[in-house]
Amino acid sequence: MNEQDWDDVATTFEEEIFNVPENDTKGLITEAIERLASPEATATDLGCGVGRTLPLLSRNFAHVQAVDVSSQCLAVAERACAECNNITYVHADLSNDRNGYPATNVVLCINTLLNASITVREPLFDRTCRSVKRGGHLVLVVPALGSALLTAYRRLQWNLRDGMSPEQAQLETTKNDAGIEHGIVQIDGVPTKHFLREELEASLLARGFAVDTMEKLEYGWDTEFTAPPRWMKAPYPWDWFLVAKRMR
Ligand SMILES: C[S@@+](CC[C@H](N)C(=O)[O-])C[C@H]1O[C@@H](n2cnc3c(N)ncnc32)[C@H](O)[C@@H]1O
Repeated sequence: MNEQDWDDVATTFEEEIFNVPENDTKGLITEAIERLASPEATATDLGCGVGRTLPLLSRNFAHVQAVDVSSQCLAVAERACAECNNITYVHADLSNDRNGYPATNVVLCINTLLNASITVREPLFDRTCRSVKRGGHLVLVVPALGSALLTAYRRLQWNLRDGMSPEQAQLETTKNDAGIEHGIVQIDGVPTKHFLREELEASLLARGFAVDTMEKLEYGWDTEFTAPPRWMKAPYPWDWFLVAKRMR
């Protein structure tokens, strides 16, 4: 999705864009932000969208930058967070623009590194990393490739239990030719980057980060399927949640 697509979705964001913080039932994001919080420190919400996590950052840091490529999303965020008086709103395309704002102690980046195009995503990943001060932390949530494959398996399992022939069950599950070997999986028809744990470790190491924590941020099956059957329990679908420290 490009700038225009994100602008178009700004007024229907809550209905259309999956709410990671709301579905973070273990509170991994809040726990990490509160652990890294300091009254002198600064934070950036990179790809802040309509500002779901801005109040959390606002009450835990001295100053917060809300950065997004969509001026429409930023406008919604600014209205929603009118009572938070320590936030600066920055319109920037992090895949193109130089970082036009200072690096901060903490950068929160939830499902922003999604673009299927490597020429968009790599500069975005680089600039996300450069938005963190040396010695500071990146708190990152990204889609997990293993979770997308598990979801395909669950669909297959469901089809088989419903009496479909194995061939038909498998065919019906095969929905993807977007570039699975590079982690590109369609979500609602949009080719979307998904990550391996090892890929995240390697790409953060190459960008001068050490991963402190990486865990599954798990969701219910109702986030993947309408009316999933009662037998469909753990293992659940997940995004990768990680905290990494900038070493150089
Ligand atoms: C899936 S939404 C997530 C929003 C928010 N982090 C949340 O959890 O609700 C992705 C956000 O990243 C922003 N984004 C995508 N590409 C970007 C880019 N190149 N530079 C800055 N922001 C970008 C979009 O405008 C959108 O608001």
